[in-house]
Amino acid sequence: MKRFSFILFAITLYLLSSLAGGLTQTGTGENYVPQSGQAGKDVVWVPTPQKLVDTMLNMAKLTPSDYVIDLGSGDGRTVITAAKRGATALGIEYNSDLVELAKRNAAKEKVNAKATFIEADIFESDFSKATIVTMFLLPHINMELRPKILNMKPGTRIVSNSFDMGDWTPDQTINLAEECSDWCTAHLWIVPAKVNGTWKLNNGKITFQQEFQNITGTLTANGQTLKFTGKLDGNNISFSAGNAKYTGTVNDNTISGTYTGGKSWKAVRN
Ligand SMILES: C[S@@+](CC[C@H](N)C(=O)[O-])C[C@H]1O[C@@H](n2cnc3c(N)ncnc32)[C@H](O)[C@@H]1O
Repeated sequence: MKRFSFILFAITLYLLSSLAGGLTQTGTGENYVPQSGQAGKDVVWVPTPQKLVDTMLNMAKLTPSDYVIDLGSGDGRTVITAAKRGATALGIEYNSDLVELAKRNAAKEKVNAKATFIEADIFESDFSKATIVTMFLLPHINMELRPKILNMKPGTRIVSNSFDMGDWTPDQTINLAEECSDWCTAHLWIVPAKVNGTWKLNNGKITFQQEFQNITGTLTANGQTLKFTGKLDGNNISFSAGNAKYTGTVNDNTISGTYTGGKSWKAVRN
């Protein structure tokens, strides 16, 4: 059922893309009014419902110290909402009329110092400095962007309206069906640290096999080998091996943390 809804979503946005030739903006300059479904470079413009914008930023745990980048920022609503909540935010948008409209909208809301917009192609833009990336694009575009996203700083939050990222399962999904009629699902991913491989311990070694935020592995210490499964939440790692629960922080080539009873452990990348 979930898969069916997703396919239906993708088909709807795709159909909107194909129909977009018939849907045109009205007005020019200050009077420009975009039409939902109007053509865009790679994706049509359809606005995210404000309730979902709020939910997406809540899921990302937005704080004033965040730097938000919205990929394909439309009329600027996500960037403006983030700025109203104290963050610095940038919208990257291909359509120059939408860029100008978003700037006017930001000025009306008195957040133009914190909410900025550039006219650019998301595929030619560097968004690596963002601590939160928001998007409402299409499944194949999410997949095209995925390698860049996975190379972002661990802990970066990615929130997408409706579309997922293939076999990188979301860390959280929220559907607002009760309070919203279209485009009401948001997915959150937290960019995981890279731990795949073997790490040295004081008294042995630990090997991780990583699939996005999921880990399996073996811990060899004191002549004993234990298998485990665990999770990465950005730089935070947790797994249970035998009767012990390990937590730690990945810092490039070292992991340090504690395990059951508050004892500390440290691993160094081989
Ligand atoms: C579905 S709308 C989402 C708008 C906004 N993010 C929101 O959630 O309300 C997608 C936006 O991406 C823009 N867009 C499409 N292809 C783009 C590209 N290659 N680079 C930048 N923007 C693009 C479209 O013009 C449109 O405004």
